[in-house]
Amino acid sequence: MSEIFETLDQLPPDPILGVTAAFRADNSPLKVDLGVGVYRDDSGRTPILDAVRQAEATLVAEQQTKAYVGPAGNQEFNERITALALGPVAQQERERLAVIQTVGGCGALRVGAELIRAARPDAVVHVSDPTWANHQPLLGSSGLALESYPYYDARSRGVDFDRMVGRLSELPAGSVVLIHACCHNPTGADLSPEQWGVLAELLPRRGLVPFVDLAYQGFGEDLQADVAGLRLLAGCVPELLLAVSCSKNFGMYRERTGALAVLATSRARAAAVASHQARTARRMYSMPPDHGAAVVSRVLGDPGLRREWEADLTAMVARMRSLRSMLAARLEAASPGKDFSWLERQVGMFSLLGLDPAAIARLRDERHVYVPPDGRMNVAGLNENNVDYVAESIAALLS
Ligand code: LMR
Repeated sequence: MSEIFETLDQLPPDPILGVTAAFRADNSPLKVDLGVGVYRDDSGRTPILDAVRQAEATLVAEQQTKAYVGPAGNQEFNERITALALGPVAQQERERLAVIQTVGGCGALRVGAELIRAARPDAVVHVSDPTWANHQPLLGSSGLALESYPYYDARSRGVDFDRMVGRLSELPAGSVVLIHACCHNPTGADLSPEQWGVLAELLPRRGLVPFVDLAYQGFGEDLQADVAGLRLLAGCVPELLLAVSCSKNFGMYRERTGALAVLATSRARAAAVASHQARTARRMYSMPPDHGAAVVSRVLGDPGLRREWEADLTAMVARMRSLRSMLAARLEAASPGKDFSWLERQVGMFSLLGLDPAAIARLRDERHVYVPPDGRMNVAGLNENNVDYVAESIAALLS
């Protein structure tokens, strides 16, 4: 008998999701999960936000049908999520925008990659070094070539903007540049408003196409500041792709809610892009799931729910900030003379510990503290009960 699958070898675990599996299999009472990027509260739970719960309840009570919505998904959600991200630019450039609801932010990245490939099969996508561990597999499996541009300076623990701009200035016109809108994953090092200003001038002048990944709006500073750079860019470039995720800021991880907005040069081009977005979805998964988008749309459209959601978001950001300060203080106490202020300068859920792979393995095997192989720590996994233990464990490996 000839087998189909005999050619397939067992793959190694996913660099991020594999950490969750290893953590679950560990029976130590000491174990701490600083792996996958999900927000956790002080008791280690990932809460369902009150506004989301209320929107879900009314949705269940009022929904009249489960008939298909269509490949582009929920149009009201598409409009509201684009307005949330792009603000006034969404209104000004309305005719040039093509938006499709996607299967989470990952779906948006993948549909975007398929669109680029359909339009320009030889386009190269340039991602930051380092970038989120799933960017390359997601975008690259569309068949597009990927390269990287310098981004993080491990010594200053900030953005190496001179080298980044140097590299971008050498790229041929038509190159696609993937940029994290805020809360850079995995470094937590974000571009300053001035640096966004430089990009807003450089990219259109060099004919480079920005593909902005917005997975953490509201998780850095606030809902406006986190997208100020994106909005500036969108107001200056002829074409732009924007992948939006609702996983973190709405706490809707498992509902796979996201959108891909494409800014095209004209109304006719936007209509053509929309037709390709729909065909891409149809060919890959036909249509996105409805629930998450319907809930997000209700939260954004109801002033009361929106206020509650924004207040919860503010509280989550404050908690992550205080965890950063707490860890920095504990590390400074445990490693006198060493500077950990970078933990407070960086924003969002992630920071790189800056430990080598052997130290990361020891952190896991000896201390039961779990982070992905690149040493990215999910700050939201810290709490009052584990921060001393984590600081002590990291400090022991630094010395
Ligand atoms: C992360 O970076 O940990 C999250 O975006 C979850 C994922 O899918 O990797």
